[in-house]
Amino acid sequence: MSAGPPTYSIRTFGCQMNEHDSERMAGMLEAGGYTRSQDPEDASVLVFNTCCIRENADSRLYGNLGHAKRIKDERPGMRIVVGGCLAQKDRHAIQRRAPWVDVVLGTHNLASLPRLLEESQRGAAFEILEQTEVFPSALPARRSSPWHAWVSISIGCNNACTFCIVPAVRGKEVSRRGHEIVEEVESLVADGVVEITLLGQNVNSYGRDLGGTPLFAELLRALDKVDGLERIRFTSPHPKDFRADTVAAMAECNSVCEHIHLPLQAGSDRVLKVMKRAYTRARYLDKARMVRAAIPGVAITTDIIVGFPGETEDDFDATLEVVREVRYDAAYTFQYSPRPGTVAAGLPGHLPKAVVQRRYDRLTELQEEISLEQNQATVGRTHEVLVEGPSKKDPSKLTGRTRTNKLVHFHGDEPDFSDGSLCDVAVDRAHPHFLEGHLARGGTRSRRVSLPVVGAARGCAPGA
Ligand code: 5AD
Ligand code: SF4
Repeated sequence: MSAGPPTYSIRTFGCQMNEHDSERMAGMLEAGGYTRSQDPEDASVLVFNTCCIRENADSRLYGNLGHAKRIKDERPGMRIVVGGCLAQKDRHAIQRRAPWVDVVLGTHNLASLPRLLEESQRGAAFEILEQTEVFPSALPARRSSPWHAWVSISIGCNNACTFCIVPAVRGKEVSRRGHEIVEEVESLVADGVVEITLLGQNVNSYGRDLGGTPLFAELLRALDKVDGLERIRFTSPHPKDFRADTVAAMAECNSVCEHIHLPLQAGSDRVLKVMKRAYTRARYLDKARMVRAAIPGVAITTDIIVGFPGETEDDFDATLEVVREVRYDAAYTFQYSPRPGTVAAGLPGHLPKAVVQRRYDRLTELQEEISLEQNQATVGRTHEVLVEGPSKKDPSKLTGRTRTNKLVHFHGDEPDFSDGSLCDVAVDRAHPHFLEGHLARGGTRSRRVSLPVVGAARGCAPGA
């Protein structure tokens, strides 16, 4: 092992909840004297924060663990940690398939990481709990962005969508007290944060376990009052719990962005019923109409699963119809992946891969067309953009996001322009996944936050 202070590297798989948890693991390691390694191959501690929502997430982990073993063979002092959802679900499989792993911890005991690392000096330390010990937000964080923060408002999920493994690995829903959330956000803003994303498997049932009624709309209103907070995002609301009070709060609160991620999963009533989604296509469409009517220019995005067991051509056509009707700005599309232990995995009618692939291709082709059309409608308009840093494709440009969560690459000719600034960008060209534009004259609303940004993630949303 290299001389000097111990170092760590964390590789995060899956959703934003895992990004949030990884920031907590990094915070605890830094509080314990570790520094972040520039190169994962040199780290004293290599952490994999895992996901198990789809099958390929498993196989990728074992590939990575094989590579980590080769590094460890050369540097026997290094330690390998596996945390997150796959660890929670498959502790014994990890022990069997990757016995060189030093620490395994689950989704309920992030706080034990320092202790388990200590114990691993005397032999492998594996610990999985069934209930959360410490709400992860209470742990120290090392955020990857100076201007954006993930804020967890609840953990776990009380729903029982038949395809989904999340309730098995994240447990029952537990909401955090509202005043704790507001206090965290106030201190984040004092630290330079201008945008937060509230995280929960089902944000719309937030607070039901605290006082009996959902409190999400009130939470939005309370956070909107935090001075200096420019943007509030949240993910994911479950369509069955997404109601007029939340839409009203979204419309009222200036800092709540004009974007809603409303997971559809399927457009056929028959499939929705077998999925146990607790809404019909008509009710879903009502909610989409309600949000469009209340919030001009709102962007709607979604998650869709193709090839659920027993899905017929007619069922799939119903999904395409909803896509055409809602006109999503973007969709995360998934091929159904059987998760052992879920109800759907035991259903008859699993479809051949070729059928699923054909449907998936048709869906993504349709969605690309619609995304392009939705983006074309922004051309010639000026949007407020939060700058994320230089564009990865063309470093002479800047990249940022509109309030509607659209990625924009633009020429920024302001000399002191930096990540975390807000500015107005005129959109010149549209593509299915991004926009191009230029800084609107006199449009800079610079709020300078000067630390560098390290890979803020915007992957698939947690749950719902
Ligand atoms: N197969 C495919 N996609 C799934 N998702 C959840 N479980 C599965 C599964 N078994 C998708 C859903 C969810 C998103 C986070 O992942 O669309 O909203
Ligand atoms: Fe819960 Fe979302 Fe999974 Fe349904 S899809 S069980 S709401 S996490």
